[in-house]
Amino acid sequence: MGTVNTSFVAPRQMLIGGGAVRRIAEVLGTFGVSRPLVVSDPVMVGTGLIARVLEPLASAGIQPAVFSDTVSDPTDTVIEAGVGEFARGEFDCLVGFGGGSPIDTAKAIAILAAGGGKMRDYKVPVQADRGAVPVIAIPTTAGTGSECTRFTVITDTEHGEKMLIAGLGALPLAAIVDYELTFTVPPRTTADTGVDSLTHALEAYISKRANPFSDALALSAMSLIGRHIRTAYHEPRNAVAREAMMLGATQAGLAFSNASVALVHGMSRPIGAHFHVPHGLSNAMLLPAVTRFSVGAAESRYADAARRIGFAELADSDAVAAAKLVAGLEGLNRELAVPSPAAYGIDDAVWHGKLELMAEQALASGSPANNPRVPAKEEILALYREAWTGVPPNAPR
Ligand SMILES: NC(=O)c1ccc[n+]([C@@H]2O[C@H](COP(=O)([O-])OP(=O)(O)OC[C@H]3O[C@@H](n4cnc5c(N)ncnc54)[C@H](O)[C@@H]3O)[C@@H](O)[C@H]2O)c1
Ligand SMILES: [Fe+2]
Repeated sequence: MGTVNTSFVAPRQMLIGGGAVRRIAEVLGTFGVSRPLVVSDPVMVGTGLIARVLEPLASAGIQPAVFSDTVSDPTDTVIEAGVGEFARGEFDCLVGFGGGSPIDTAKAIAILAAGGGKMRDYKVPVQADRGAVPVIAIPTTAGTGSECTRFTVITDTEHGEKMLIAGLGALPLAAIVDYELTFTVPPRTTADTGVDSLTHALEAYISKRANPFSDALALSAMSLIGRHIRTAYHEPRNAVAREAMMLGATQAGLAFSNASVALVHGMSRPIGAHFHVPHGLSNAMLLPAVTRFSVGAAESRYADAARRIGFAELADSDAVAAAKLVAGLEGLNRELAVPSPAAYGIDDAVWHGKLELMAEQALASGSPANNPRVPAKEEILALYREAWTGVPPNAPR
């Protein structure tokens, strides 16, 4: 047996707190870069939120070009367009400004511009360790944690697959984590992105690749998100809740970047690819069923999670706390008005017709192998069928 080493990667600098985005020029200066291409999306431009990054740059004499054609669940074709834009200027860094989609787009542009070829050439298990220029990430959702992860998720338009791309090329050099950018996130997106963060923390904690560093961050993230997600959803301008959610999202990002996600994410990506369900929402649709399937294989870990999130009491036994986790996640979905795939309006025949392919894509992503209970393909199919209406097989109907 060789020694088991822990590797932990993170951005070189993270500037965290309300108003931190005003210091963007200082961050560029620290790293000796001055010609950014800002990567964002039409909503950031249309609502004017992008001024929050452009104005402090302008005050420092920097007038960056903006690539704002990012789409939700970014595609390989958009990344190619972004690389074209990048090649037209003398840019020395990329600034990803927005939710996970613009940040992932900026990362993927850096990777594709460095190595050429097609985006699918970089999907796991390939190590995408090189980027053409550094990425500075500024999240406006709380969220994917993409600002501090070594991942980018890009859709292969030809094969209808959401690809996981992993490596140091996808790890931002710096992140600016400013919760004041999230006040305008609408409740639906607040819920979806918040459940995404919660899933990152939970999956990092129960992952077979969890380690003491990721554990500390995952546990902290679960208590922050568990205590504040409902308030952020019901009261968008509640600064205490927004700040806690942003800290939780970033901690969860660091945790899963170094411990990996597991079965929920493995099964969630194909739903996003085939049915364009927002990423956090497809996680939420799966979370109770997948947790029910998995708890028995790591009861004390799931019990810790339940206590941290606030679903169970400290005095509860592991078995009781683990059961409360499943019930608590179901209750959270009800409070956040998470629909089942059926209620979301997905066609019954199309859903069931794609399940074989979705199960294969889930397994191929590698994420299910990190789950405490590793599913066979048949079990993944059964979980997709169970998630369809959100009703567990033995429940009274
Ligand atoms: N790289 C990673 O480690 C990682 C992790 C998890 C998810 N992802 C990926 O990230 C993507 C999802 O990112 P997301 O959930 O942040 O969604 P998103 O970036 O697609 O944004 C969702 C919507 O919210 C809007 N929005 C964002 N910030 C806003 C604000 N402050 N005010 C008002 N509207 C705002 C956007 O314009 C968009 O319409 C998916 O493609 C997912 O697969 C990546
Ligand atoms: Fe996620």
